[in-house]
Amino acid sequence: MTELTRIALVTGASRGLGRVIAGVLAARGYGLIINARNRDALVAAAGELSRHAPAVVPVAGDITDAAVRASLIDAARLLGGLDVLVNNASELGEIGPLVNVDVPRFGRLFPVNVGAPMVLIQLALPLLAGRRGLIVNITSDAAAAAYPGWGPYGATKAALELLTRTLAAELREQGVSAVLVDPGDMRTRMHQDAYPGEDISDRPLPEVTVPFWNWLFEQDPEAVRGERFAAQQEDARWLQPA
Ligand SMILES: NC(=O)c1ccc[n+]([C@@H]2O[C@H](COP(=O)([O-])OP(=O)(O)OC[C@H]3O[C@@H](n4cnc5c(N)ncnc54)[C@H](OP(=O)(O)O)[C@@H]3O)[C@@H](O)[C@H]2O)c1
Repeated sequence: MTELTRIALVTGASRGLGRVIAGVLAARGYGLIINARNRDALVAAAGELSRHAPAVVPVAGDITDAAVRASLIDAARLLGGLDVLVNNASELGEIGPLVNVDVPRFGRLFPVNVGAPMVLIQLALPLLAGRRGLIVNITSDAAAAAYPGWGPYGATKAALELLTRTLAAELREQGVSAVLVDPGDMRTRMHQDAYPGEDISDRPLPEVTVPFWNWLFEQDPEAVRGERFAAQQEDARWLQPA
């Protein structure tokens, strides 16, 4: 295989936002490693993405599984390294008042939404450091807004935000950057799950974030280190004419 100039790993890339991010990266010529649990959906996404991307490696499995994470990093190493790590896969958990929350089930959200991204970052660090790489952790306005019913999910995103800002400071020496991206409300399966039976057709599709991703992947990672972006922000830098 000819040497790939840029390589990205995107978790939760079989549908929704992760599929859109992977599509942007593919169109920009990145070699891709993608992950989700459902193998058929992931392989279908890989087939579509390989129309543009120079290489696509699907690694199916739960992101909380250490063997899956190791396979993802091995795949990146085999492709030649890693420039961008997008921690997008996430679970919503139960929506409901905190006084009724099943605490052990609440606990299950942390390994998915916080633990897995952290371990992937640890494993990917030598590869990212070799290429002045960028870590992108996907967050939510639920991290700060205290929406009734959204406490457990919001708590995981709040934890991810603090850890990402800390990492951004800690990894400066190694030339690795980290940013947070709140994509805003989008018409996806997760969003429909949050509003069962409701018509969510007024929410935009995740493709609404494409201008942001194209802008982000043009930036020098060091110039955006530690920032938190709202991808659907109006009057944003990425919507201004060049
Ligand atoms: N949609 C919104 O309005 C909204 C708003 C703010 C933030 N976000 C954030 O945006 C990100 C993407 O959400 P989305 O709305 O695009 O969700 P989605 O459509 O449900 O897609 C989630 C993706 O992650 C994968 N996934 C879920 N759990 C996984 C696990 N344990 N291991 C591996 N893969 C897993 C899913 O595939 P499998 O099910 O096959 O594993 C799928 O590819 C999340 O971080 C979410 O918190 C979404």
